[in-house]
Amino acid sequence: MSKQILAGNWKMNLDYAEAKKLVQDLLKLKDKFNKDAEVVICPSPVYIAVFAEILAKEKWIKLGAQNCYFADNGAYTGEVSPVQLKSLEVDYCIVGHSERRDFFNEDYALLAKKTKALLNHGITPIFCCGEQLQVRESNVYREFVMKQIEEALFSLSAEEISKVVIAYEPVWAIGTGKTATAEQAQEIHALIRARVTAKFGEKVGKEISIIYGGSCKPENAKELFAQNDINGGLIGGASLVAKDFCEISNSF
Ligand code: 13P
Repeated sequence: MSKQILAGNWKMNLDYAEAKKLVQDLLKLKDKFNKDAEVVICPSPVYIAVFAEILAKEKWIKLGAQNCYFADNGAYTGEVSPVQLKSLEVDYCIVGHSERRDFFNEDYALLAKKTKALLNHGITPIFCCGEQLQVRESNVYREFVMKQIEEALFSLSAEEISKVVIAYEPVWAIGTGKTATAEQAQEIHALIRARVTAKFGEKVGKEISIIYGGSCKPENAKELFAQNDINGGLIGGASLVAKDFCEISNSF
């Protein structure tokens, strides 16, 4: 069975005091969070070391990074390596968010390397895919998303890909308040699972977690998470409000 995952992508938001307060607010809600879902927060990388200490005794919130480089170490000014993340007990790392593809020109080859490097160091990649509005409207969005998955993930082994979390984030729904309907999201999630199953087998297809992102909030999470192939969410804006994030965790 696929694991249920709720990950908060804080993006480049919150100063240090605000970010620490959000962690404290989340910790206060511990008893109200859904115990059956894995809860992950992905703050700015500059806060990860301090949060790793705060969360050391609070194992129920996992730490994730928003990005990393693929090399272990070396002369890559400004980058963060999977080895460094692992040394802070970071469990997850987002790979290929559309904002990184669009603003920082990240391509399939780079994303494949990052995914592989994370797996080599025991960090779970949250691999993002999703189409822009013009692709959705031109009606080739299914092929487009399948290509994103195939190009970046299909050189992995079955064992490796079973450890990857795939996040379907239609770009037109990110930060726009315009969510994909449950049917639109389910269609793509089912296609992704079918494609992974065809390539890597029944067991991998059943176990891989495919989560949805794009204006997911307390008001629509229940309907989205009720779909057969939606195993959770990658939440942007609503993850910055502790009670909303908590409420979304109870939408499974
Ligand atoms: P919003 O929830 O703010 O639309 O962002 C989604 C997202 O990009 C998560 O990675």
